[in-house]
Amino acid sequence: LSRSLSMTSLTGVLPAWEEDELPVEDLLLFEVSWEVTNKVGGIYTVIQTKAKITVDEWGDNYYMMGPYFEHNFKTQVESCEPPNPAIRKAMDALIHNGCQVHFGRWLIEGSPYVILFDIGSAAWNLDRWKGDLWDTCNIGLPFHDREANDSLILGSLIAWFFKELTDHLGDKPNVISHFHEWQAGPGLILSRSRKIPMATVFTTHATLLGRYLCAGNTDFYNNLDKFNIDKEAGERQIYHRYCLERAAVHCAHVFTTVSQITAVEANHMLHRKPDVVTPNGLNVKKFSAMHEFQNLHSTNKAQIQEFIRGHFYGHLDFNLDKTLIFFIAGRYEFSNKGADIFLESLSRLNYLLRVHRNDVTVVVFFIMPAKTNNFNVESLKGQAVRKQLWYIDDDDVCMSSFIRGQIPDLNNILDRDDFTIMKRAIYATQRHSLPPVTTHNMLDDSADPILSNIRRVGLFNSRNDRVKVVFHPEFLSSTSPLLPMDYEDFVRGCNLGVFPSYYEPWGYTPGECTVMGIPSVTTNLSGFGCFMEEHVSDPAAYGIYIVDRRFRSAEESCNQLTQFMFSFCQQSRRQRIIQRNRTERLSDLLDWRYLGRFYIHARHLALSRAFPDKFKMDPMAPLKTEGFRYPRPYSVPPSPSASIHSTPHHSDVEDDDDEPYDEDEEAERDRMNIKSPFVLNAVP
Ligand code: UDP
Ligand code: G6P
Ligand code: GLC
Repeated sequence: LSRSLSMTSLTGVLPAWEEDELPVEDLLLFEVSWEVTNKVGGIYTVIQTKAKITVDEWGDNYYMMGPYFEHNFKTQVESCEPPNPAIRKAMDALIHNGCQVHFGRWLIEGSPYVILFDIGSAAWNLDRWKGDLWDTCNIGLPFHDREANDSLILGSLIAWFFKELTDHLGDKPNVISHFHEWQAGPGLILSRSRKIPMATVFTTHATLLGRYLCAGNTDFYNNLDKFNIDKEAGERQIYHRYCLERAAVHCAHVFTTVSQITAVEANHMLHRKPDVVTPNGLNVKKFSAMHEFQNLHSTNKAQIQEFIRGHFYGHLDFNLDKTLIFFIAGRYEFSNKGADIFLESLSRLNYLLRVHRNDVTVVVFFIMPAKTNNFNVESLKGQAVRKQLWYIDDDDVCMSSFIRGQIPDLNNILDRDDFTIMKRAIYATQRHSLPPVTTHNMLDDSADPILSNIRRVGLFNSRNDRVKVVFHPEFLSSTSPLLPMDYEDFVRGCNLGVFPSYYEPWGYTPGECTVMGIPSVTTNLSGFGCFMEEHVSDPAAYGIYIVDRRFRSAEESCNQLTQFMFSFCQQSRRQRIIQRNRTERLSDLLDWRYLGRFYIHARHLALSRAFPDKFKMDPMAPLKTEGFRYPRPYSVPPSPSASIHSTPHHSDVEDDDDEPYDEDEEAERDRMNIKSPFVLNAVP
């Protein structure tokens, strides 16, 4: 490892970094995850967005591995022959024994190769493989835990594949395999117990116990060192999963996790301190026109406004031009994702906007998948009415008044036909109920936590509510008849993402907002929030509001969140535009081209531990992210009051100047202001 790989910073702002280059032509890299081509949550985003930089580095020597699902394969993968004969042979060994393995290119940026294992075709081996697992490490899996059983089948197939592969390869090229999360754990445990010669990395994106304990309203962070973890796992009936996770962590040459906060958690819950923290990045795309993301905000917002017109038909007595769109999105873990304090804060915001007679209305979307049986009739009807009125509206100037429930200008009423059209519109927009809170029929309406809390705080979309709520219990899709937008376009059209999580090892959603130039709320209990706190001097000025959930009570956190949202509502349009420009400027910090270095470092370390004679590594202090900070934006006044909530001040006069504010000069001054004191691979 003699050559040196120098990664210069993207903009000249972030620190450069040097690490010995790996001889990738003499290596094969495999990355294993349940979420390869299979979207469940944020791990899919890690794997999918990182593909490009990994393929750029490794070319044909990089392979991802995961479970085969017919639908995913047909829609996302182009089948092809493996370019490497050893991989073909290893696959054939499994196929000849009745287990199906599929190969192809995943049709995402970078087009990585994927090797997908058909769990169903190999399920007949389950009992035998359970026996093997028991003989290897005394972990028994109950028959009713489908997920754990599937992970064992996948792991057994993968360990078998690696055995065949390394037998064919000998010791050149050497193999590195990187496993993600407990579901990939059995593959690692079995490979290591069978002494397969390869360097291994295990990354955890959460600990099982951490997630369960937090969801159960435990005071988790103040008691990290006090839990009897075996007992807690047993009581939650996840003892076997926790054993798989813990065994995988201890088998790996290198153990990594996605944030400092999860590193501390892992040390307590899994009894191993991570060797490297590998923060999650994104595949950031820059537009050639600098303000394109502002235009995209505008066009996508118009599309969300269309939906709002339909959803609130007959009650559209609020000014859409003064309506802000907030949202929360993610897996439906009510308290872990902070939906509890969000709802409480929304009811307070509603009160504040009312008593201050603020003319701003906030429409809040909850995008969290729950069990439903399709869209509800009232929501579909709303969109149909909107389409009908829109059509009439084109023909008749009076109709826009009716849509808002106002009396039209009588001077514009010319003949009997107008009266007929008006009557039709009035009948169509009559509604005897309030605009619905949910877009779908919920299977568990009465016990659903979001709905129960909406009932408790009384946010029913009544006319005098300044905060309106729409619960969309399904991930977004451009093929939806109701809100036909992809998640990315939807985010671009919103004004603020609110993610006040209590348990969040990383939390992609606010980061995705950032790179699209949309401000967001996060917390100092999320990996992302801590990362931003560490690297940005005045995060709120850049549109990253960090709620303190660590050192404050829930009540205090609610108040802080309410204040953030209330001051956000007091900004003028111009201030929001300026803030979006700043938010977008943080993108480089979240780019895999910068953060990918931590994965490179982890692989390097694993090789030096697995094959110490061949791969040496200069003794290095553990690679850390700390040391670099974005200074507060030049244009933000330094008064203390300015940095309490959102730095852009409230102006009494709504400033409707919506010319995108050119911050180039300010950005340049900021850059000059930055003196990066740190080099990433500091010598010991
Ligand atoms: N997401 C999505 N469609 C939606 C809502 C969310 O694809 O309608 C994605 C989002 O882009 C993000 C992921 O779901 O990448 C959630 O990841 P996060 O790390 O925030 O949370 P996790 O679900 O892993 O706990
Ligand atoms: C972008 C567009 C502007 C538009 C604004 C709306 O900046 O370039 O033309 O007025 O978005 O911003 P708002 O914060 O009101 O959604
Ligand atoms: C897990 C965590 C989430 C993280 C994601 C990707 O699902 O819950 O916080 O962003 O993994 O690392």
